[in-house]
Amino acid sequence: IEHPGNGRTAYHFQPAKHWQNDPNGPMYHNGLYHFFYQYNPHGPTWDTGKLSWGHSVSGDLVNWAALDNALDPTAPFDANGCWSGSATILPGGRPAILYTGIDADKVQVQNVAFAKDPSDPLLREWEKPSCNPVIPYPADVTGNNFRDPTEAWRGRDGLWRVGIVAEVNGVGSLLVYRSADFLRWQRNAAPLHASSRDVPVLECPDLFPVAAAAQGATEGLETSAPSGAGVRHVLKLTDFAKEDHYMVGFYDDVADTFVPAEPERGDDPDNWRRLDHGHLYASKSFYDARNKRRILWAWVDETDGGGVARGWAGIQAFPRAMWLDADGKRLVQWPVEEIETLRRKRVGLRWATDVEAGGRKEIAGIVSSQADVEVVFEIPNLEEAETLDPEWVLDPKGLCAAKGASVHGGVGPFGLLVLASGDLEEHTAVFFRVFKHDGKYKVLMCTDLTKSSTKAGAHKPSYGAFLDVDVEKDKFISLRTLIDHTVVESFGDGGRTCMTARVYPEHAAMGSTHLYVFNNGTGAVKVSKLEAWELATAAVNGGSLAPVVV
Ligand code: FRU
Repeated sequence: IEHPGNGRTAYHFQPAKHWQNDPNGPMYHNGLYHFFYQYNPHGPTWDTGKLSWGHSVSGDLVNWAALDNALDPTAPFDANGCWSGSATILPGGRPAILYTGIDADKVQVQNVAFAKDPSDPLLREWEKPSCNPVIPYPADVTGNNFRDPTEAWRGRDGLWRVGIVAEVNGVGSLLVYRSADFLRWQRNAAPLHASSRDVPVLECPDLFPVAAAAQGATEGLETSAPSGAGVRHVLKLTDFAKEDHYMVGFYDDVADTFVPAEPERGDDPDNWRRLDHGHLYASKSFYDARNKRRILWAWVDETDGGGVARGWAGIQAFPRAMWLDADGKRLVQWPVEEIETLRRKRVGLRWATDVEAGGRKEIAGIVSSQADVEVVFEIPNLEEAETLDPEWVLDPKGLCAAKGASVHGGVGPFGLLVLASGDLEEHTAVFFRVFKHDGKYKVLMCTDLTKSSTKAGAHKPSYGAFLDVDVEKDKFISLRTLIDHTVVESFGDGGRTCMTARVYPEHAAMGSTHLYVFNNGTGAVKVSKLEAWELATAAVNGGSLAPVVV
């Protein structure tokens, strides 16, 4: 194992240096995956005047080669930055980018760029036609908030549609524009979404179809797949400076309107379902025609303010396949299976499967600073479960903070201690705790960062969510955790509840780190499955194209 060092990750996407934020325009084209991202080629901080679109390609979503920037702020319609947007493959196979330009007057406008030579497998050059901006700043938009075009989709009438977030007279909205030629766009009078609460700034919208199957179908749908029986749409919005939320619903592809499947959650995206209960922002999905799946990308930024000292800032979450769960309301996310190509040494259960009350067992034998761990807990006895104080019903995050991993409970806390120093002074805990509530049981999932680092000034919150499981019936709770030096991505209950965290353990820079299963509940917990793999270091933007040729 080659340690990346300097806080860098071994298999998460990041440029060789400098700042990155949002994922932009991901696509699969002619045998390669393309990934673009908000990039400051001049340094490790976000800089409004200088953002470009970085560009990398991959044959497997794991190993990446960096190309020259696809877009730089060179024209009057993007002189102050090429902001977020999407890629769409036009009929005949020509890729187009729609992106927000910050123009010479610092106004947000929408521009188009076309791949200069669609037969170049690397799509190295992008042309910006002189008719840009193709969508100027509308008169009723306020606050200079008009940005982040979605991937375009084509309706039955042959017209293209694109969604753009806008503050319309102070109201956070998603506008739809239509076009026959991808150059001239006309706004639909009705916004696809408008938030009645005071949420003016929404960012990075995503609208995509998913298969609605009673058993849950993992296959993805093309972005232009028509609405109809067996199809739902997911509307994802990023609530400014907070987090990503989504709502499943019915998209009328003639009127370009959206009816939520859970209207009781209202029109404030803050009350919709969270894509990830930890630290993750500005996600964007694409349809992978090679493997017929929808894949999610998302930015995970630094939380310790250490970017400048390190010379780089921002990673992308490991790409996740995403589909609609059998309940028709929530998404399931799971690391793309290509991650398995990095799996090296594996360790399984080496000790008795019971972890006693107050017990801790080490998962030894692999380098656990870059690892993929799958564990299933069996709860033999729910009687000891603590009663849930009603004040926490709506605040799982607060409950995780109040009852961290070291606070002994009834059923749980049990889970993993990752990136742990030998003396346990540093560790990050990912765990579950079962409560009695209203004659039933409620399972809490937490990522507790309070002991994640001894470094002064590190941000060490607790993240939390209630799982939607019937533990009385199932008796099993599953957890998969990806560990990668400064990031811990956890997938509870088969990927129905996700939690991403950035952590900055000081001991990990020195070399070895430890991994444990722990149980601070009153009774024993049974580990019915445990597999942990050491993961190899992927080639991520290291300099040569060789690793992406498949
Ligand atoms: C989201 C965002 C987008 C914008 C981009 C600029 O993180 O603020 O709304 O296009 O970043 O870098």
